[in-house]
Amino acid sequence: MRRSIITGTGSFLPEKVLTNADLAKMVDTTDEWITTRTGIRQRHVAADGELTSDLATAAAERALEAAGRKADHIDLVLVATSTPDQTFPATAATVQANLGITNASPAFDVQAVCSGFVYALTTADAFIRSGQHERVLVIGAETFSRILDWNDRSTCVLFGDGAGAVVLEAGEGEGTARDRGILISRLHADGRQRDLLYVDGGPSSTRTVGHLRMKGREVFRHAVTRIAEVMEEVMEEAGVRGEEIDLFVPHQANIRILMGTARKLGIDPEKVFVTLDRHGNTSAASIPLALDEAVRGGHARRGDLVLLEAMGGGFTWGASLLRL
Ligand SMILES: CC(C)(COP(=O)(O)OP(=O)(O)OC[C@H]1O[C@@H](n2cnc3c(N)ncnc32)[C@H](O)[C@@H]1OP(=O)(O)O)[C@@H](O)C(=O)NCCC(=O)NCCS
Repeated sequence: MRRSIITGTGSFLPEKVLTNADLAKMVDTTDEWITTRTGIRQRHVAADGELTSDLATAAAERALEAAGRKADHIDLVLVATSTPDQTFPATAATVQANLGITNASPAFDVQAVCSGFVYALTTADAFIRSGQHERVLVIGAETFSRILDWNDRSTCVLFGDGAGAVVLEAGEGEGTARDRGILISRLHADGRQRDLLYVDGGPSSTRTVGHLRMKGREVFRHAVTRIAEVMEEVMEEAGVRGEEIDLFVPHQANIRILMGTARKLGIDPEKVFVTLDRHGNTSAASIPLALDEAVRGGHARRGDLVLLEAMGGGFTWGASLLRL
């Protein structure tokens, strides 16, 4: 059975760090409020002129190196982002050019906000399993600092910039949960909830970029339910119990959400990989950034069973279960 296997990971964070103390000088907030309500202590912010495509390219180069692949081995580039360099072309096209890929393989963006990486990974997996592609770069990259309202304390303290990438390659498995590769993914959306988390601008509506708006408490309430549901769905379909998960790499939005869902699903708190304290919520970049840190730090090894989940604006949500 054809499987899509992660053969390399990479990530990149902009140099500039904004701490909670820095934010307390900008808006009416405190380190104590942000830390206890969210788990975030600091976030990275891209420099002027440092674009989403730049972060994505740096992360992709590291993933290619880890996989032992050259850029031209890649036959599909997917970038999950809600903060593209431009309305068009797709950031993926810019990344393809930056990497020097000249084999005319396709490149496109996937827009599912914080679920973007799980959506892109699932898309790449479907392309690989159909036999259409062999080696795909799947990148999550964001510069959310550019769409934040820096006067709105309820949102500006939550997000950060960064990028993460994986090289996903075709391989063979037996068709069991012992195979390496993506074992199962499930994606969902409910557009009726789009007004709870959105950006109040866009080319077709306001001809502007707009700012992020969120009804935090309601998003929180939905997130807890939806994330647990989709995790249960993939674990049940794969016949895997919470205790069997070697590493849980959730979308990093709020420490209370991710520890709460792990507990509900019987996943040991020790197996929850957390980068939220240092990165904030980097939207589509948060899972591949965390996965790369886990791999490079020796927390995730070949053969480990890894569960990914995310929820974001739309609402969109999804989960992937894979063996490294
Ligand atoms: C945003 C979030 C941290 C807020 O935490 P909360 O416990 O729900 O807090 P509330 O929004 O109810 O606000 C509580 C109070 O804190 C205040 N507050 C909001 N932001 C604040 C800040 N940065 N500093 C200090 N006080 C703040 C509010 O004004 C409110 O004050 P009030 O009670 O006087 O009206 C939380 O709702 C959350 O994480 N939601 C999900 C967000 C998420 O995951 N989004 C991304 C999905 S991908």
